[in-house]
Amino acid sequence: MDYTIEITRAKNSRIGEVDFDNLQFGKFYSDHMFLAEYANGQWQNARIIPFGDLQLSPASSFMHYGQAIFEGMKAFKDENGNALLFRTDQNHKRWNISAKRMGMPEIPFDLFNAALNELVSLDKNWIPTQDGCSLYLRPFMFATDVHVGIRPTENFTFCIITSPAGRYYSKPVRVLAADKYVRAFPGGTGYAKASGNYGASMLPLKEAIEKGYDQVLWMDGFEFRYAEEIGSMNVFFIVDGVVKTPALVGTILDGVTRDSCIQLLRSYGLTVEETRVDLNELLKAYREGKLQDAFGTGTAASVAPISHIGYKGTVMELPAVESREISIRLKKDLEGIKTGNVVDKFNWVTKVQSPLSALV
Ligand code: COI
Repeated sequence: MDYTIEITRAKNSRIGEVDFDNLQFGKFYSDHMFLAEYANGQWQNARIIPFGDLQLSPASSFMHYGQAIFEGMKAFKDENGNALLFRTDQNHKRWNISAKRMGMPEIPFDLFNAALNELVSLDKNWIPTQDGCSLYLRPFMFATDVHVGIRPTENFTFCIITSPAGRYYSKPVRVLAADKYVRAFPGGTGYAKASGNYGASMLPLKEAIEKGYDQVLWMDGFEFRYAEEIGSMNVFFIVDGVVKTPALVGTILDGVTRDSCIQLLRSYGLTVEETRVDLNELLKAYREGKLQDAFGTGTAASVAPISHIGYKGTVMELPAVESREISIRLKKDLEGIKTGNVVDKFNWVTKVQSPLSALV
């Protein structure tokens, strides 16, 4: 289906306010944003307007019951100035999985893709080219029924904002295995990119930071023994040459970067096991000198080395980051593919196309 997106350009660009040589993550937002509403059973009023505040009723249902989902994506520029997107089809697939779990309407690929392409095309100048930087894309959807009662919702807003961003982590990450709080249970929303999953992690995160860590390593909710994911990314370990990552058992997010890393690692000839990762076994491997690497993967985080893992009162200190040949190669290849500097043999990258904004 052809979705017409009406475009209203910002009168003045704010791009001059941004120091592209000192970008942080999530601090600045580009000139425009995308919006569409779902009402009467269909998506309508697709438009791009200047970035700004939204006007919403305080009775909007998402404010009370947290019915909201989001995605994280990134746009890069290649050396010829083309704007590039990465595996849009996979983020779209997960979006609809999240939407379904949260009782929200799906978005057709044509609308999702057109919205991203038009928006990135219009704000192409906001795509940083500095090492490790990107235009971070944040599609999100929330329920807007003006009704403070629990009932299936009928009205929704789909929005995309974009943000020129530096690296999410500027240094190796210290993670603390959860031993009290649980992120997800079988039958819950763990596999969905539901906003509430992240909201519920704020207190555990605050407590982990107070103990000197950067993130929580979420564990299974029964024994606090099997690793699931980290607050901002999926997790990988390398034990005695074998790569291990928690299997997608319904409580874990099916990361697009996770999948890309598995494919890349297998293309290097490595064994990658999607399995239950028992922290007791990991601790044993650590004591025997066999825990070679641990890293997180995510769109925002890219491939982020882990320096310390706290588990049941023991701190496992991982080898120096410079010695970790596999994850260094993985990060270089993944980021190289996304920026057009490494051959994209997996066909993951698409050039941003804009049939509309060229006409306004
Ligand atoms: C992403 O990696 O893009 C995410 O959405 C994770 C978020 C918690 C920063």
